Amino acid sequence: MRNSAARRTIGRPRQLSLAVRFASGLYRERARIASAGYLWRDPMSLLKLRPGRRDPYPVYDRLRAAGPLVPTRPGSWACTSYHGCDAVLRDRRFGRHPAEDRPGMSFLGMNPPDHTRLRRLAQPAFTPKAVARYTARMERTAVGLLDEAAAAGRFDLVTGFAAPLPIVVITDLLGIPDSRAADFARYGQAIIGSLDGIKSVRHARQLLTARADLRRLFEHLFELRRREPRDDIVSHLVAAEGDQLTPGEMVPMCNLLLVAGFETTVNLISNAVLALLAHPEQWRALCADPDGLASPVVEEVLRWDPPVQRTSRFALEPVELEGQLIRQGQQVITLIGAANRDPAVYQAPDAFDPARAAGPPHLAFASGIHYCLGHALARAEAAVALRLLATRMPALARSGPIRRRNTTIIRGPLHLPVTAPAALR
Ligand code: HEM
Repeated sequence: MRNSAARRTIGRPRQLSLAVRFASGLYRERARIASAGYLWRDPMSLLKLRPGRRDPYPVYDRLRAAGPLVPTRPGSWACTSYHGCDAVLRDRRFGRHPAEDRPGMSFLGMNPPDHTRLRRLAQPAFTPKAVARYTARMERTAVGLLDEAAAAGRFDLVTGFAAPLPIVVITDLLGIPDSRAADFARYGQAIIGSLDGIKSVRHARQLLTARADLRRLFEHLFELRRREPRDDIVSHLVAAEGDQLTPGEMVPMCNLLLVAGFETTVNLISNAVLALLAHPEQWRALCADPDGLASPVVEEVLRWDPPVQRTSRFALEPVELEGQLIRQGQQVITLIGAANRDPAVYQAPDAFDPARAAGPPHLAFASGIHYCLGHALARAEAAVALRLLATRMPALARSGPIRRRNTTIIRGPLHLPVTAPAALR
């Protein structure tokens, strides 16, 4: 007892000095970005500041004007061209950096062969057949949420509709007991909030607590499924434990599915509603034919305003790309949001046009071996959401200013106030 108390006392000054070092590093980095962005108009810094968060597309145009692949201040490369991004994402000479710090991100942060082994284990839960099993649940949830919203007349489309829907689906998919669903959503949101980096010491502390709580929740679930397996992904993972994956790989895998499953889809639905309300003729067309147009609208939103705006890869060996030599270990930032509006491959790329003539497949779900595992699920959720929204709330209208998320990688509104007068039942 006394020893541990002494250890705690000795540990405190060290913890404090680590916290101070961490905080000053964080604030120095923020000051660097602000001065590079606001003073020098450095596009990559602007993307991390308010103007770039509000509308990154003019910033991408500026970058594109400098060439398809431009060097960035910290010594990486930023790629705006469709073909360049697609090539990097597909090329096995690019991959994750062995030292890349993506705690809890499982195979998303790995290269083959570990990536292949773990992705294969999760795959059966995401086949079109598996996804079809969730459609009825998606519809019931969406209808319930819209009924509640219609009764209120005025609601926040993000917190009242777009966010709860994917949470229910991923909670179901992972087999989280209903009694723990709210805790699960809370821990998940704390972890997701850190994807763009830690914003303060308090934030770092909240994140550690949420990670530990979520770990306990998953470990409890593994216990349940070991005793009573079901036909769900967690039962599948515990059955493979020891043989195809180590016990230590199970929690990160579940974390990945949770994070990937909810923060992206909420933004796809919200970005779709924003796009439609800004293009009333497209909203009217969707309301006239919800079954026929929901999916094409989802695809165009994924191209025009993708929820994941960028990812990156490291050169695992020297590679020539767009006429430049990328040295081994250098990072290429693949700007998905820019590639999806590359005028070299899309006609009138800035136009939101769900009926556009076929261009190449957008890169919203990336490309190559890390191509989004949940794409069919995300597409189905968003199509159900738009179909039901258009059917039940054709008079949907914005009723206040939106607030955007304070993030660079993930794009979408945090709040989107709307009214739905004369909602149909
Ligand atoms: C609109 C919704 C979504 C978008 C825009 C999206 C986007 C992406 C992107 C861009 C990647 C590749 C990241 C990279 O290579 O660096 C990715 C990977 C992944 N996504 Fe999604 N995602 C969405 C929904 C989902 C859902 C619903 C799930 C599952 C519940 C999911 C699970 C995953 C997984 C597991 C990976 C890692 C794949 C791998 O590393 O092999 N995603 N997603």
